[in-house]
Formats: sequence, structure tokens, C-alpha cells
Amino acid sequence: MTTQAVAQASGTFAIGGAPTVNRLGFGAMRLTGKGVWGPPDDHDECIRVLRRAVELGVTFIDTADSYGPSVSEKLIREALHPYPDDLVIATKAGLLRTGPDEWQPMGFPAYLRQECEMSLRRLGVERIDLFQLHRIDSKFPAEDQLGELAALQREGKIRHIGLSEVDVDQLEAAQKIVSIVSVQNMYNLSMRSAEPVLQACEARNIGFIPWFPLAAGPLAAADGPLQRIAVSHGATPSQLALAWLLKRSPVMLPIPGTSKVAHLEENVAAAEIMLSDDEFDELSAAGSAG
Ligand SMILES: NC(=O)c1ccc[n+]([C@@H]2O[C@H](COP(=O)([O-])OP(=O)(O)OC[C@H]3O[C@@H](n4cnc5c(N)ncnc54)[C@H](OP(=O)(O)O)[C@@H]3O)[C@@H](O)[C@H]2O)c1
Repeated sequence: MTTQAVAQASGTFAIGGAPTVNRLGFGAMRLTGKGVWGPPDDHDECIRVLRRAVELGVTFIDTADSYGPSVSEKLIREALHPYPDDLVIATKAGLLRTGPDEWQPMGFPAYLRQECEMSLRRLGVERIDLFQLHRIDSKFPAEDQLGELAALQREGKIRHIGLSEVDVDQLEAAQKIVSIVSVQNMYNLSMRSAEPVLQACEARNIGFIPWFPLAAGPLAAADGPLQRIAVSHGATPSQLALAWLLKRSPVMLPIPGTSKVAHLEENVAAAEIMLSDDEFDELSAAGSAG
């Protein structure tokens, strides 16, 4: 397999029937300053990360207007525009930023619309392939928030609608209003509370996008719970954590985040690791014990 095709080894998933992406994607939240606030320390390395991701066959990039805010989307455009035909950029709306590490839900429909308009402009696209509601805001009726997204979809500004951090009841209620093609919840080898939502997604062929696939670092650490097994498999802990996710479900679309090319290359190489059932079970036990 050529280096260009590494991510293809993870298999493909058709989001909402189309477009089809390679399942191992990239999360662009880490291309920002401390606290996901402001520019990254090393702008040029972040540009290299994005270009290298595409070279390695990544066709699915996750971002949000709130990452920076605006920083991540602008870097994606700077690094990759004009975009390859097969690249799918998923962005999100529904969170206000008031400072480093501060995130407030904001589901006022007109604000969601403004976020969409600004993301279209920043990304330099006529239509957003996947627009995710970052959080359902309890201050406003969910019908109004999803209704605004449905209106944007009818107007051709967004292609598909996804949710983030929802439970099964919220997913089912949302599906009565709009067609939901993806759910993005926290999930990894050592944090599996979203299992019922994952199972609901599997039953409906909805893409499940696990955020914190590396538990934001510990699952990639040399002294973490996967180190011993990683050594015996000739892989790194991060690669095993990602290979485990890919094997867990055909609807799984991991989006590991990094600001470093070396980490990106290590993570994308996980696409080529095919775990046996025994290896999967061993990792499952190690993850729940860690
Ligand atoms: N929907 C939501 O509410 C939500 C919330 C959080 C995140 N997300 C999305 O999910 C994506 C993934 O989550 P995440 O970025 O927070 O967590 P993650 O992918 O689990 O971990 C990223 C962290 O691990 C480090 N890392 C990555 N690869 C590594 C490697 N091979 N070796 C050692 N360290 C490594 C990164 O640092 P370096 O930069 O130093 O590599 C970074 O600090 C985000 O980028 C974002 O797109 C969504």
C-alpha cells in the first residue's frame, strides 16, 4: 500500500448515503491555542498537519466555528483550499466561547444561522457537507434549533445534519424532526458511557464520531494502560486505541486530534492494524481496567 492510501485501510462509510469517507479521519480542534482559544503555537506545523492528513488519505476532517473561535476553520481553508473533491469537512454550531476552556451552549436559532453563514464564508464553500449541532441548548426548544438547521438544509447551505453529546431519547426525538446522519459523543477504550447511543447509531446506520478517541492523551501515553500490549503487538498505544475503535463498529468514524505531523502519521497508520477478536477482547479488558 502506498503512503498516499494509508487511511483507506480503515474502510469507508457513506455519510447519509453520500458522500463516502475513509473511516479514520482527523479532528482539527487541536490546531488552536491553549484552552482551544486563539492561534496555535506553531502555525506552520498545523498547516503541515492538515496537508499531510490529506496526503495520507484522510477524507474526513472535523472542526467547529468555536475552535479558536474561527482559528481551526481558517487554517483548514489556508492549508487545503481549493479542496480535493473527496474531502468532507464537518463543522459545528451551537456553542459560545467566552474565554479559554469556556464553552456555553447557545441554540438561539438566528445565532445558529449566523454561525452557518460565517462557517460557509471562512471555509470558502457553498455548502457544508455535515453541519453538527454541537449541543442541544436546553434554553430553547430542540424543535426550533433543529428546525433552523432543516431550513438551512432546504436552502442548500448544508447537506447533512449531525448531533453531538446526545442520549438515545434525544436522538430519537431529533429524528422525528430532521434526518440525522451522525452523532458525535465522547467515547474511547476507557470511556464507554455512550455505548447505548453507539448501538442506536449502528441499528440505524448513523455515523458515530467518537471524540476524545485517545482520551485526549492518556491512551497514547507511554506509561498508559495500553503500553504492555502495544509492545507485544509492535504498535504504539495510540494506534491500538484507534484500531480498537475501528474494529468496534463499522459506523465508527474516529477523529484523533493532533498539532504535530509525527503524531498524525502515527495515528493514521492505525488504519492498517487489523485486530483479531482475541486482541480486541484483550484491549477491551485493559481499557475498562485502566
Ligand atoms: N463534539 C464535541 O463536543 C467535541 C469535544 C472535544 C473534541 N471534539 C473533536 O474530537 C477531536 C478529537 O478529540 P481531541 O483532539 O480532544 O482528543 P484526542 O484525539 O483523544 O487527543 C488529542 C490529544 O492527544 C495528543 N495526541 C494525539 N496523538 C498523539 C500521539 N500519537 N501520541 C501522543 N499524543 C498524541 C494531542 O497532542 P499533540 O497535539 O501534542 O499531538 C492532543 O493533546 C477534536 O479534535 C475535535 O475535532 C469534539
